[in-house]
Amino acid sequence: VPETQIILGVTGATGVIYAVRLLEALKQIDGIVTHLVLSSWGRKTIGIETNYDIGAVERLADHTYEVGDLGAAISSGSYKTDGMVILPCSMKTLGAIAGGYEDNLIARAAGVMLKEGRKLVLCPRETPLSAIHLENMLKLARLGVRIVPPVPAFYNNPQSVEDIIRSHIMKVLDQFGIPYNDGKRWQGA
Ligand SMILES: Cc1cc2nc3c(=O)[nH]c(=O)nc-3n(C[C@H](O)[C@H](O)[C@H](O)COP(=O)(O)O)c2cc1C
Repeated sequence: VPETQIILGVTGATGVIYAVRLLEALKQIDGIVTHLVLSSWGRKTIGIETNYDIGAVERLADHTYEVGDLGAAISSGSYKTDGMVILPCSMKTLGAIAGGYEDNLIARAAGVMLKEGRKLVLCPRETPLSAIHLENMLKLARLGVRIVPPVPAFYNNPQSVEDIIRSHIMKVLDQFGIPYNDGKRWQGA
């Protein structure tokens, strides 16, 4: 069975715990190889919002890269990967991708997904959203990017923040067809 190579970009939007939970989930699934890039504000936000140390988060991934390392393997389309998730995705990184401004490894790897026709899943997080944010999302959605904001659902009766996180992880993994049994699905009323 060929392995599935997934890049995870983590930026400095609130909700970095989602990325930690996604890495934990992917680690449990056979045949998935993870490539992690934390932006500088992604790192700082992990410190602000969670009790995880950066090393522990990085050890959840199979490969990690510095955000400034534009010479990394995943910076090139010739390096085979299956897709990329940016969770959470800041408005700055969203804007960089929509504008083709590939000056760090997260925006560059996302640009590679676009140019190579590979799967790109963005989980943009901001509120309220300005017209610039919305235009950037619309532009990318029209190019086939999956826009999957971490917006809680209540139809599945979440009992905890962890339940809310799990249902978002399910939504993200659904985009790749990766099986995940820890999220609650609507079964009809
Ligand atoms: C604690 C914290 C929370 C933030 N939350 C958001 C957010 O939800 N959305 C957003 O677009 N920016 C947010 N920001 C601002 C970004 O971190 C900032 O725009 C940064 O330049 C993003 O860079 P990056 O995309 O390279 O990580 C937040 C910053 C901090 C420190």
